[in-house]
Amino acid sequence: MPSVYIKTYGCQMNERDSDAVAAQLVAKGYSMASDPLKADVVLLNTCSVRDAAEQKAIGKMSHVASQLRSRKKNAVLGFMGCMAQSRGKELIDKLPDVDLVIGTQKFHHTVDHIGEVLSGKTNKVVDVEEEEGSEAAVREHLLDGASGAKSITSFVSIMQGCNQFCTFCIVPYTRGRERSRSIEDIVGECKNLVDHGVREVTLLGQIVTSYGRREIGIKDGKSAFVQLIEAVHQIDGIDRIRFTSPHPKGYGEDLVQAYGRLPKLCESAHIPVQSGSNSMLKRMHRGYTRERFLDIIHKLREVRPDIGITTDIIVGFPGESEEEFEATLSLYREVEFDNAFVFKYSTRRNTPAAELEQQLPTELIEERHAKLLSEVNQIGASRYETYIGKTMQVLVEGPSRRNKERMEGRTRCNRIVVFDGSERFRGQLVDLNIIRSGSFTLYGDPVILK
Ligand code: 5AD
Ligand code: SF4
Repeated sequence: MPSVYIKTYGCQMNERDSDAVAAQLVAKGYSMASDPLKADVVLLNTCSVRDAAEQKAIGKMSHVASQLRSRKKNAVLGFMGCMAQSRGKELIDKLPDVDLVIGTQKFHHTVDHIGEVLSGKTNKVVDVEEEEGSEAAVREHLLDGASGAKSITSFVSIMQGCNQFCTFCIVPYTRGRERSRSIEDIVGECKNLVDHGVREVTLLGQIVTSYGRREIGIKDGKSAFVQLIEAVHQIDGIDRIRFTSPHPKGYGEDLVQAYGRLPKLCESAHIPVQSGSNSMLKRMHRGYTRERFLDIIHKLREVRPDIGITTDIIVGFPGESEEEFEATLSLYREVEFDNAFVFKYSTRRNTPAAELEQQLPTELIEERHAKLLSEVNQIGASRYETYIGKTMQVLVEGPSRRNKERMEGRTRCNRIVVFDGSERFRGQLVDLNIIRSGSFTLYGDPVILK
């Protein structure tokens, strides 16, 4: 059978989609290749959130096409995901070597499309229509990693799309409107994962706090999202539950209280704030104020004082004034986030912000990016240092990515800890004494029980 190489750009949703496609291919007898230039099929699962991500995927595809086509005339080249969705056929016009363009509601048809091209039944496929029910089509998992080792943690896609329409964001256009899977369907997938050795699930969606708003609704004062967390919490064998990405406006009392009530819900939250300035939040169409955001953080820390909180911030949104940027810096200092992704604003086609006058000069965006990043690093380092001398429990995931000789796991508050250990620790909850902190990593020794 032919071999397939998949490269994934962008967020965890994309990683999850690629994993499901790989699992479907393997089930049909295809093998996975680690080198695109040796593969029979090359798929790039693309991201459109920033222009740089699109350019990278286009660059990669033209490189692969120029190298591979001369060696393997019949190799199949395809784009999947967000850029495939938003650019469609235009990608084939630009890169005529490309055979497949598969949109965000069509991942589960990838195997069939590859088969059609390989058998010569068709030449080019552009499949980017909407498809009812596609939110439930990302379900298969490639549970044995490349090394053949078992996965301890897994992503579970609970919904697709976003209705928030932040003015800078292309996601509502690439992923479509919000559509949620049923609670039973998601619980079924989680149980299957547990049967394969998974102990931690991360519930995934572009705006998970809006999960099931339309389809399920509020029951006993609990949002559909909280109902889902409760249902997953009841599954024997799951030790930890996380989710990403929420929206601040979804942190009602019910979700805050869930952190207090549900011990498997890990005390960590990635809550994108984007800006600390009210005028900017308004222009971004975020739907909350600085004060409301600070109130959420305060409430979460009241319920779980050890909670790890990270965020996303955009610098250089059109018209961002010095005062507005300073407001973001001051919010960052006030919250003392554990870490943040700081993004330089990137103009996205067809978004309302692309029409705004006063796009800022690149140098100013660079300058603000560097300034905020230095704050992120400084605050992160001092927060990580406070863990030295403490004992923390990690769920061991496998060998350290930085040093294969050592093992690594994550604390409940989502910090990576590296320690000396062997494969027998994989999947175990292990207590570690923290002895050192590096850049956004902790180092520990297993607690020896006397
Ligand atoms: N420019 C820069 N960053 C963006 N993000 C989304 N759209 C843009 C854009 N046009 C960032 C946001 C979001 C994260 C996934 O990507 O911070 O939370
Ligand atoms: Fe984009 Fe805003 Fe939706 Fe997040 S909430 S995916 S930033 S539109």
